Amino acid sequence: MASALSPYILLLFFSHFLLIVHSSTNPDLESLISFKTLSDPSKKLTTWKTGTDPCTWTGVSCVKNRVTRLILENLDLQGSIEPLTSLTQLRVLSLKGNRFSGSVPSLSSFTSLKLLFLSNNRFSGEFPSTVTSLFRLYRLDLSSNNFSGEIPATVNRLTHLLTLRLNDNQFSGLIPELHLPSLQDFNVSGNVLSGEIPETLSGFSGSSFGENPFLCGAPLKKCEAEPNKPGSEGAIASPLVPRNRGPGRTPLDWTTRLKIAAGAAKGVTFIHNSCKSLKLTHGNIKSTNILLDKQGNARVSDFGLSIFNGPSPSGAGSRPNGYRAPEVLDGRKQSQKSDVYSFGVLLLEMLTGKCPSAAESGGSGYVGGVVDLPRWVQSVVREEWTAEVFDLELMRYKDIEEEMVGLLQIAMSCTAASPDQRPRMSHVVKMIEDLRGVEVSPCHDTVESVSDSPSLSEDACAGTVSQ
Ligand SMILES: *[C@@H]1O[C@H](CO)[C@@H](O)[C@H](O)[C@H]1NC(C)=O
Ligand SMILES: *[C@@H]1O[C@H](CO)[C@@H](O)[C@H](O)[C@H]1NC(C)=O
Repeated sequence: MASALSPYILLLFFSHFLLIVHSSTNPDLESLISFKTLSDPSKKLTTWKTGTDPCTWTGVSCVKNRVTRLILENLDLQGSIEPLTSLTQLRVLSLKGNRFSGSVPSLSSFTSLKLLFLSNNRFSGEFPSTVTSLFRLYRLDLSSNNFSGEIPATVNRLTHLLTLRLNDNQFSGLIPELHLPSLQDFNVSGNVLSGEIPETLSGFSGSSFGENPFLCGAPLKKCEAEPNKPGSEGAIASPLVPRNRGPGRTPLDWTTRLKIAAGAAKGVTFIHNSCKSLKLTHGNIKSTNILLDKQGNARVSDFGLSIFNGPSPSGAGSRPNGYRAPEVLDGRKQSQKSDVYSFGVLLLEMLTGKCPSAAESGGSGYVGGVVDLPRWVQSVVREEWTAEVFDLELMRYKDIEEEMVGLLQIAMSCTAASPDQRPRMSHVVKMIEDLRGVEVSPCHDTVESVSDSPSLSEDACAGTVSQ
């Protein structure tokens, strides 16, 4: 009897065991392992071991147990990248400087992908057409491979594109007319392209088009057979504004800023949600009211003062301090959505390092002698490269640009001119936390004032924004 039963018990035990193992594994584990098996003959991925958490492996970063970033550069990897296509949560994929070959498989599953670097490999075949469906892409680098055929006009679908590097391949035919408003970094040199350079691209420098013997038109030499067109000489690159630092300041690093942003957002949400029927507002969100405790946790101070201020006297709105929502300046009452606006300005201040009421002259952004930071950022983002708006101190930290662009988008939605278009504060918290699974302290911790702690903003800013 016992001998007849034991295999059954054993089976039960095993299936239970497998269930436990299965449910605790990372959904992306299998793809990563099969990728390693196929592509790492020289065994460079030493930390990639079964039985360990893939989120701790070299080059792998996760959010909520899914791989969001895979950076495997110069590791002598080879073969196909097909197994990676099941990593559907990827935001960043860099495989620069390896020996991958063959055509690029369908990447249409990478719906969240923002940065794609496949340069310096041996990829061949046509331009990977599925890439043009990845409409969130900011940067695309396919340079130094062996791609051939034409550059498809469907690249125009990638409307956010800042970087398009296709240089040093075998691309041929005409360069399509590209209308990519944010494009800053463009290179098709070292191909076999021919014909006239489209006017929309003629503002890039000659070296973006070099080493294509059959290419002509501005910025290269005139096309012989073509009738003359008026030349456009616009320089695309604009200088970073020199500043956006006095001696003796310790700039806040990116992780700290993100933590402060999330902590402050939670504090404001706590106020907004604390009494649903009253719809409480903070009413005076600005960087000097965000205080940091010794652990770097953000605390929102000065709450409660504003509820004693009634609506502004008619005709005369509140004085602008750089943080006030347009409707409040027009004399309307503070609302939770006007808090969201002020919070958005605070985020822009963190991202740009500029004081809201004393930003650089930005042309269109002036309001009553001071620059309106949201409008300045909007004008720069529209006209130039998104990265231009960021604080130079932050640009020293690698691999954060994606998160910075994400936070910038949140800040811009908070500072929408119409209150209805701004997100609720609780949604802002969620969006910030989603940028990188940032953990912040529970919200009941964040509303008290810590008067002896350093304030977020530097003195120069504090002087101009306080009233
Ligand atoms: C590049 O692709 C062409 C065909 O498009 C092929 O003839 C050539 O051998 C390839 N070169 C390399 C280095 O793989
Ligand atoms: C384009 O790429 C070529 C080859 O790598 C390089 O020499 C040139 O400086 C690049 N130009 C620009 C504008 O990036």
